[in-house]
Amino acid sequence: METEKTINVASVPQRSPFRYPGGKTWLVPYARLWLRSRPKPVQELIEPFAGGAIIGLTAAFEGLTKKVFLIEKDPDVASVWRTILNGHGEWLAERITTFDVTFGSVKRELNRPPRNLRERAFATILRNRVQRGGILAPGAGLMRSGENGKGLRSRWYPETLRRRILDIVATRDRIRFIQGDGIECIQMNRNRKNLAFFIDPPYTVAGRRLYRYPNIDHEKLFAIAQRLAGDFLMTYDDSSEIRRLVIQFRFDCETVAMKNTHNSKMTELLIGRSLAWLRQPQPLRRAFHGSLFQTAPESQDNHQSNLRLLAQGL
Ligand SMILES: C[S@@+](CC[C@H](N)C(=O)[O-])C[C@H]1O[C@@H](n2cnc3c(N)ncnc32)[C@H](O)[C@@H]1O
Repeated sequence: METEKTINVASVPQRSPFRYPGGKTWLVPYARLWLRSRPKPVQELIEPFAGGAIIGLTAAFEGLTKKVFLIEKDPDVASVWRTILNGHGEWLAERITTFDVTFGSVKRELNRPPRNLRERAFATILRNRVQRGGILAPGAGLMRSGENGKGLRSRWYPETLRRRILDIVATRDRIRFIQGDGIECIQMNRNRKNLAFFIDPPYTVAGRRLYRYPNIDHEKLFAIAQRLAGDFLMTYDDSSEIRRLVIQFRFDCETVAMKNTHNSKMTELLIGRSLAWLRQPQPLRRAFHGSLFQTAPESQDNHQSNLRLLAQGL
């Protein structure tokens, strides 16, 4: 079954300091639904391919799980999380708000080797904001005219970035970060029951140009996921390779509509052991109890109705 409408990402709180290629802001309403519909509250969410970590941050900020554990292999991306979570978040926020973005200052900053972790974190945030598509992989170029002809500054919002970083600092007792291998981390935690894994690996096709580490053994990842004691939710590009693995490992799968950074409509796959939470009306009502919406879905087709409500931007 496929959603007909796309999630309105403008209604999802942006909490990450990154504009992350392949970021999962559009998935936030689904992730809330998934975590809230567990029979028992989930103690810990593990995000083994963290990137901009929007799902992990949402879980920590909204108390969807007690703890969040982020893992990322790319040392530049890791430098940002380590800086924010290990006591230098205020420094990073201050550095961002006092930096004057010009072609010359950006070139100078990005060409000199960082002297320490926090300088590396600053250079990474800067690169993420001034390079085309936010791509951090080696070889990505600077934006030329940028949005609205504002050039390099078109994605540089110092006050917003400062606020997001300080908000994460304020929540850091719930978030743990490790620079390392996501697959190893999943394996190390495979026997723990009361946790959940949000697994968003580099995609089979686009990953190659977006990330420093684009290569994953997808079959091995599916095999590990099959043996997990805890629950998991995976997202993937809708490719024949992944559909074949879904069938081979007898996982449950749904296609969902989303818009990419060029505003084109695409479908992606949600994969889990069971996605019944996406189809049943009761968990959804419970999941949205309270502030998220007032009226329960009325359509007979609960799944479509649920997805329509999700797509309206909860
Ligand atoms: C699709 S992105 C994750 C995006 C993230 N969910 C978000 O919303 O921003 C995949 C990430 O996995 C990272 N990665 C690739 N191989 C990895 C590995 N073996 N262990 C941990 N992270 C890895 C990449 O650097 C990239 O940041």
